[in-house]
Amino acid sequence: MGILKKFLNNASRPKGTLGKIMLSGMTFGHRWLSAWGLSHLDGVKASTVIDLGCGSGANALKLLEMFPSAHVTGADYSPLSVAHSKRKLEREIAAGRCAVVEANVADLPFEDASFDLATAFETVYFWPGPLESFCEVVRILRPGGVFMISNEAGGLEDMPVDWGRWVDGLNCYDGAALERFLREAGFSQVTVDRRPKLGWLCVVAHK
Ligand SMILES: C[S@@+](CC[C@H](N)C(=O)[O-])C[C@H]1O[C@@H](n2cnc3c(N)ncnc32)[C@H](O)[C@@H]1O
Repeated sequence: MGILKKFLNNASRPKGTLGKIMLSGMTFGHRWLSAWGLSHLDGVKASTVIDLGCGSGANALKLLEMFPSAHVTGADYSPLSVAHSKRKLEREIAAGRCAVVEANVADLPFEDASFDLATAFETVYFWPGPLESFCEVVRILRPGGVFMISNEAGGLEDMPVDWGRWVDGLNCYDGAALERFLREAGFSQVTVDRRPKLGWLCVVAHK
């Protein structure tokens, strides 16, 4: 396998030296998508938030700023991502405002109805199902809770890069496919927003 392919495959589960480089790169490279995704949460009230597939921890940090009285949990199944996030969020963890856990989204170690808001940036491409994973998200959200998905690869022809061809195991879903899975999982109200030309996708679903 070429070094570029090896590097890009770290997007699904960062590990080793290339994984460390990938995590630092994601903090920088995903910041515009993150800001756009977060702008869809204006008006959402949340005291318990979880960022699923938290990667470097950069989005958990933004969520802590955006919801200053909330507790924010980061969850990721990559031990390297968890270690990176714990370092980034060291102060917030010490202050009792944040936790980072190693977990697969398909089997989350949380009680039913534990969270008001769940976010997923650049990660549902890799989730098992994704229907079974979305069912887990429904389970851990309280009634009325919100789930926000932000994807750079929005699954339509206007994607500048077809990441599905570059990264093994990356499934590019379009908004209609995600909406179907979300409704089947039990979400009632689903809205899909797109950034044409950039190919980005943001989906907000209510339990
Ligand atoms: C491309 S990175 C995105 C990281 C971060 N959300 C961001 O926007 O920068 C995908 C992350 O999702 C995590 N991930 C993928 N599948 C997962 C699963 N089934 N359960 C938990 N984490 C998962 C990976 O380990 C990786 O850290």
